[in-house]
Amino acid sequence: MPTPIIAVANQKGGVGKTTTAVNLAACLAERRKKILLVDLDPQANATSGLGLAKTEGASIYDSLLGDRPLQEIIQPSADSRLDVVASEVDLAGAEIEVARAEHHLLRLAMALAPLAAQNHYDFIFVDCPPSLGILTMNALHAADGLLIPMQCEYYALEGISVILNLVHKLHDSGAAPRLAVEGIVMTMYDMRTNLSQQVVGEIRTHFPDKIYDSLIPRSVRLAEAPSHGLPIIAYDPNCTGAAAYRQLAREFLKRRKTAVEPAGADAPPAPAPDAPPA
Ligand SMILES: Nc1ncnc2c1ncn2[C@@H]1O[C@H](COP(=O)(O)OP(=O)(O)OP(=O)(O)O)[C@@H](O)[C@H]1O
Ligand SMILES: [Mg+2]
Repeated sequence: MPTPIIAVANQKGGVGKTTTAVNLAACLAERRKKILLVDLDPQANATSGLGLAKTEGASIYDSLLGDRPLQEIIQPSADSRLDVVASEVDLAGAEIEVARAEHHLLRLAMALAPLAAQNHYDFIFVDCPPSLGILTMNALHAADGLLIPMQCEYYALEGISVILNLVHKLHDSGAAPRLAVEGIVMTMYDMRTNLSQQVVGEIRTHFPDKIYDSLIPRSVRLAEAPSHGLPIIAYDPNCTGAAAYRQLAREFLKRRKTAVEPAGADAPPAPAPDAPPA
């Protein structure tokens, strides 16, 4: 099976997409998974959040336009199990060029396919920009799973409906047949406010199978870590934000395991039938 590709997307800005992509990736790497994080956002926040520079001439831009194989632009991060494909500011301009290119919604899928087939990574994550424009549409066409970070705020449910409707429309039109909703991560949870609890309750009622039990708390340490170019488990390994993303990584793997393996796969093997009489 090719490496699963997970798009981290939500059309709304500032809901914790990049924070989730970077920290979930880092926590999975800590659990000995080999991860590639592709920064598909011209803001390049995932790139800088992992301490890498925005790299002109060696960014996802070059692969989307078919100029360079994606394998050539992969960069190591400080964690040997976490590699990155960087972004650059010009990616905003690339959107226009991609729109004019052949198979314009499949550019990322085509760039990632050979790598996914190699199975060198356990997971490939794609951090998307805050829109449902061509870059995010490329991520959805390339992905097997859609991970939706949602801020615990009043309009959360409406926000989820927008992106879920898009997934349904894609499926109805026969596009992105492999894409499934991986899960919904509630971010910036503040247990002291009724609003946070109400919003989580509401999402849980509507999407009981999709919402992760792990809630990401609002935490100053999580907001500080990117300015040091570090994931939270390196910046402050003992803070509540680090614990939350570690828990999310555990839950992510556990759910995938149950989804992939048939029920009873963990059960002890059935006793061998009696040997036939000699
Ligand atoms: N759990 C949290 N607690 C406190 N601050 C957070 C948390 N998660 C994210 N932030 C901060 O909120 C801001 C937005 O987060 P982030 O960049 O992850 O969102 P995003 O959805 O990727 O944004 P964009 O849509 O612009 O790409 C950042 O400054 C980030 O550091
Ligand atoms: Mg972002």
